[in-house]
Amino acid sequence: MIGSICGTGSCIPRYTMDNNELAKFVETSDEWIRERTGVIRRHIIKEETTVSMASEAGKRALENAGVSAEQIDLILVATISSNVLLPCTACEVQKNLGAVNATCFDLGGAACSGFVLAYNTAEAYLAGGVYKTALVIGSESLSSITNWNDRGTCILFGDGAGAAVLKAEEGVRYLPVTHSDGAKGEALICRSRYDTNGITKKTSDASVNEEEYFIQMDGQAVFKFAVKKVPEVIKEVLVLNCLEKKDIDLYILHQANRRIVEAVAKRLGEPIEKFPMNLQEYGNTSSASIPILLDELNRAGTLKPGQKLLLAGFGAGLTWGASILSLPRKPGTKKLRFGRCFTVTEQAKRVIKRKISKRKRRL
Ligand code: COA
Repeated sequence: MIGSICGTGSCIPRYTMDNNELAKFVETSDEWIRERTGVIRRHIIKEETTVSMASEAGKRALENAGVSAEQIDLILVATISSNVLLPCTACEVQKNLGAVNATCFDLGGAACSGFVLAYNTAEAYLAGGVYKTALVIGSESLSSITNWNDRGTCILFGDGAGAAVLKAEEGVRYLPVTHSDGAKGEALICRSRYDTNGITKKTSDASVNEEEYFIQMDGQAVFKFAVKKVPEVIKEVLVLNCLEKKDIDLYILHQANRRIVEAVAKRLGEPIEKFPMNLQEYGNTSSASIPILLDELNRAGTLKPGQKLLLAGFGAGLTWGASILSLPRKPGTKKLRFGRCFTVTEQAKRVIKRKISKRKRRL
């Protein structure tokens, strides 16, 4: 069994802030932001919350999939910026949708890799026969953890939510590749406001700089990490699944920076047309960026049955990973040929490992 994406949805805050408006309170310019990032505007929550956007995106994904809330067995929400800690965002979504049969939990902290990791988690549950239908959501209100005085970060981020419905279907699984490097985590950090307690620590620790409660980033280090690791992990996941670049119809990358996407395309030797982007409209919405893009492509009619998509996320942790999926064929059409895929035996795993390290040495 595999978890097939059969519906998508998204929810974007109504309020839009363009670069010129941003330049009114931080020293920057529309020209600089466009040139260095590709971002033109971002959407910022006013009356919306991480929970309300996740719920709305989820509702639209269910409608798009033609699946009822009661049919959902699993709700997973990837977020680092929820308005609630308890109950978790996924349980709030369950309540709002009436998904009474679902098991719900959040994937916090995976940040910009969040949707890929949540998708992989749901896929594994579906492939393992634990659940039949899953709703996977990425929802972020990054504006609440952005330092609006720091021009090195506030120009990049935005708010929004995206969702996908996955159904268990017959098919061959593509295995994902994911990595983490906690030793390099300092490049992108945000301190929790819940790191003090009333007994052993003062509730307001004078040694803590207020700025630490907002996203802090070594922009160049993150840029270098992304343009090196994303092409590597894409090559890795292709080798692991015995696929080639030509087998991939679209690369759905985390929407962080146009220059990062262009550099990845160049390093892979793939045409930029295979890398759809919408970051000009939303900025970097962390775990929401991939499902928002998926939903836009779906509703624009760009996604076609049988296409192979490669999702790649990267960000805080540091974490990065890539997953390949086939869009389901319409009922009654010829069954998709799944390349040269196979059931992964222990022996096959050893062969794959050898192949990957050989390729890595060649990279
Ligand atoms: N507006 C105007 N000037 C700015 C600026 C801004 N918003 N931010 C930085 N600058 C200035 C710097 O002060 C510096 O000036 P100097 O040369 O006089 O010292 C100059 O522009 C270059 O700064 P630098 O930090 O080298 O810019 P950059 O080309 O690396 O771009 C980022 C900065 C943040 C856009 C870029 O590093 C980036 O996108 N990194 C990846 C971030 C990311 O994707 N994070 C999320 C990953 S999930």
